[in-house]
Amino acid sequence: MSSPKLKRRGIFITLEGIDGTGKSTQFRQLVKHLKRLGYRVRATREPGGTRVGEQVRAILLASRTQRLAPLAELALMYAARAQHLEEVVRPALARGEVVVSDRFNDASFAYQGSGRKLGVATVRAFDRVVCGETQPDLTIVLDLNPRVSLERAQGRERRRNSAHGRFEAEGLAFHARVRNGYLAIARQEPRRVKVVRSDRPVAEVQAEIRRLVGQFLAGRRQ
Ligand SMILES: Nc1ncnc2c1ncn2[C@@H]1O[C@H](COP(=O)(O)OP(=O)(O)O)[C@@H](O)[C@H]1O
Ligand SMILES: [Mg+2]
Repeated sequence: MSSPKLKRRGIFITLEGIDGTGKSTQFRQLVKHLKRLGYRVRATREPGGTRVGEQVRAILLASRTQRLAPLAELALMYAARAQHLEEVVRPALARGEVVVSDRFNDASFAYQGSGRKLGVATVRAFDRVVCGETQPDLTIVLDLNPRVSLERAQGRERRRNSAHGRFEAEGLAFHARVRNGYLAIARQEPRRVKVVRSDRPVAEVQAEIRRLVGQFLAGRRQ
């Protein structure tokens, strides 16, 4: 039996937003919180999360200085996602776990669809084939002005002494398009996608995320 047929019983939560909005910070705290509440949680991230995903990530980073065709970038993202779904997401959902992913498919709509201007229809074509019915149940989009988020991301990279990632090298206009891409998704799917402003202290942002996740989980238990 191929994995897309696995029956889903779990819950799929994703965290999204442009670089430096605080996804990874909030993600770690949310995962801890859900575990403390007694949920079986599978914490994961894109485009890593699997060995193949890490290799794809290496290709994306290596091609930073060369021009990677936007469609090649999109196809690589969905290649990593196919592996991630098969190895991590679908098996965990089938076991009834709460899967929490630091980025997932909305990132492709925002980054490749809006940022790289490939458009929704092209991304959706990949998404239908690769993700199919395995879509996030709840998505938190952390929203912040790219001017601020990029500064945060740069500070983080300086502290880690690492080079900037592929998209961090892109300008403000690119990140503004990505941000608008996320906000457009949230407008189109207000039930699934919740926008949380992240221009405030970490604890405040976390409190709102916990409230939204708690509300969602309460609805699912009924
Ligand atoms: N609410 C916040 N206010 C100020 N700085 C923050 C906040 N949330 C995260 N940061 C800092 O901003 C940087 C980027 O956060 P991170 O969680 O790595 O973002 P992302 O995963 O979205 O790129 C980190 O140095 C982090 O400590
Ligand atoms: Mg991160």
